Amino acid sequence: MTNTTRVNETEILQKNEIMMAKNTHLSSIFTEKIIQMSNVWTSYDSKNFALEEINLSIDRGTNYAIVGESGSGKSTLLKLMNGMMHFSKGTIKIDYVVPNMNDKKFKKMMHTIGYIPQNLGLIKNITVLENTLIGALPRLSKIQSLFKRFPEHEIQEAKRILKLVVLSGKEDRKVYTLSGGEKRRVAIARALMQKPTILLADEIVSELDHVTAHEIMDLIADAQKQMNLTAIMVHHDMKLALEYANRVAVIKKGRKILEIGVEGETIVDFQTGDVSTEEIMEMYADDSKK
Ligand SMILES: Nc1ncnc2c1ncn2[C@@H]1O[C@H](COP(=O)(O)OP(=O)(O)O)[C@@H](O)[C@H]1O
Ligand SMILES: [Mg+2]
Repeated sequence: MTNTTRVNETEILQKNEIMMAKNTHLSSIFTEKIIQMSNVWTSYDSKNFALEEINLSIDRGTNYAIVGESGSGKSTLLKLMNGMMHFSKGTIKIDYVVPNMNDKKFKKMMHTIGYIPQNLGLIKNITVLENTLIGALPRLSKIQSLFKRFPEHEIQEAKRILKLVVLSGKEDRKVYTLSGGEKRRVAIARALMQKPTILLADEIVSELDHVTAHEIMDLIADAQKQMNLTAIMVHHDMKLALEYANRVAVIKKGRKILEIGVEGETIVDFQTGDVSTEEIMEMYADDSKK
């Protein structure tokens, strides 16, 4: 971690302390946890729970990964974090706010959550620049937004971000002409254009080859440091998750069964304390090849 990052973090922490002091109803408790879930249950059909008894807390500015077999509830967990999914039981706080699409405060906050769905959600027959500018839509006036009239400073900002994700020179290319890696860069650019505090990415590198997957992950790690982002990423590959994340939550059949992270040369188990490194890697040895 660089000195600059530390300074930014301190500044942000101080700002939050001031904010908390002003908001008396939020009490004087200060926490650096940006996401907190306590005993959260959710279901799609009111019969079966897609997630059960989820407890997790994510530190501001960190990289958190969610790993698990197909159908285990990873995408549902991300959707809970951006308010796209209701929860039936428990409590969720996203930067002190309960996610609820009908709540004005949360709606405002939602714009600062950059969400990249598994299918990326790009508009294929418009350009790279136009897709990136979509991230700025919430900042535009109703009229500007309706006619997609972007002010010059937003266009310049989009170009700056496209440079950051190494897409300079490709601004005018239609998205359908891009490679898989390039499409992911556009999705990241659009999310960064939102000036997010939280970045949620659902299996963004799953279909990529090893080298491209690392390029994309390095890019996110760089953006994260520069912008003091909290990144929460769903992965299929446990090794990759452990390589980049401070913490990895393992989800199985809707339950969080493990929370691990690499410290030095060893894998530290934060949830159960009795699973060896070998057992963890064995659990996912076959999965990572799928
Ligand atoms: N829209 C939906 N309607 C009903 N059930 C769903 C829906 N989306 C997901 N599920 C179910 O919820 C569970 C978790 O799904 P999901 O979060 O997509 O898993 P993952 O992302 O780990 O593959 C699965 O049993 C899946 O079938
Ligand atoms: Mg999924």
